[in-house]
Amino acid sequence: MFKKLMASALALTLLVGCGGGSTASNGGGASSGKTYNVGVAIYQFDDNFMTLYRNELKSYMEEQGKKNGVTYNITIVDGKNDMAEQTNQVENFITQKMDVIILNLVQTSSADTVIDKVVAAGIPLVLINREPLGDNGDESYKGILDNPNVCYIGADARQSGTFQGEIVAELPDHGDINGDGEVAYVMIEGDPENVDAQYRTEYSIKALEDAGIKVKKLDDQVGNWKQEKGQEIAANALTQYGKDVEVIFCNNDAMALGAAAAITAAGRKVGEDIYLLGVDALEECVQMVENGEMTGTVLNDHVGQSHTAVDVAIKALNGEKIDNYYWVDYVKVTK
Ligand code: BGC
Repeated sequence: MFKKLMASALALTLLVGCGGGSTASNGGGASSGKTYNVGVAIYQFDDNFMTLYRNELKSYMEEQGKKNGVTYNITIVDGKNDMAEQTNQVENFITQKMDVIILNLVQTSSADTVIDKVVAAGIPLVLINREPLGDNGDESYKGILDNPNVCYIGADARQSGTFQGEIVAELPDHGDINGDGEVAYVMIEGDPENVDAQYRTEYSIKALEDAGIKVKKLDDQVGNWKQEKGQEIAANALTQYGKDVEVIFCNNDAMALGAAAAITAAGRKVGEDIYLLGVDALEECVQMVENGEMTGTVLNDHVGQSHTAVDVAIKALNGEKIDNYYWVDYVKVTK
């Protein structure tokens, strides 16, 4: 944890440093007038959160270019959730001699293969959003630690799960709407290969248990981060378990949007006879939290993460030393 806090502090320093518009720290000075080719590979364009992320990344990088008198030629490609396709895209980036690659992996299990190719080509690599985990399940992934020009930028998904659980634990009835002494919940999971999905599923419930609250799992299904799947899973669970469902936890807001529609269709009302939680803090979900249509969400700071990714990529382009890990905090969002 200490390591994470330190890394967070570092990321913050970095953001603050670059936000101050110092061309020296962004390296504009020496490289002014230059053009750099930047390859960005996103796991899938059809993802609400990653769409916000990639748009912010592009506009922030262009802004930095203008500030520094440097042109960043940014090519962004859609992996269409297909690892073979993404591997091809990265190989093309290498052939095209990109100066830096920013990569949102389709599958973290393929991290080594891709890292090896990019490192062999001598191109700095900034991994984002999908964290490959080390053997002992923490941020000590060898492919990252062993390579000074490879880094990961993200948020600790355990924190987002914990925040979801805490939001429920902090409710006046602690999520136990029917007062039977336990919180009966439905879990709607993202892509199970993704550590964000694994940790949010685990730590939301752990936070309730750590607060001394008894829980009862009614259902746990994979919705693959998709709104329509979230709706389908919530609708089925509400049909099967009816009033017994007290809390619906969704690993992200897209699925919570779907679950919210299913809740309304079932004639249920968030805040009265059911609670609904998401992660990301999409604009429409923040609005719903405000209106009481969602109990809470957790800000997955796409601005902080994309800006850090760009700042680090620019450092690498300027031949400056980069760290292996940069962390951005989640923030609880309640009414
Ligand atoms: C976000 C999800 C998104 C996923 C993509 C997660 O951090 O919370 O909304 O679908 O990243 O990898």
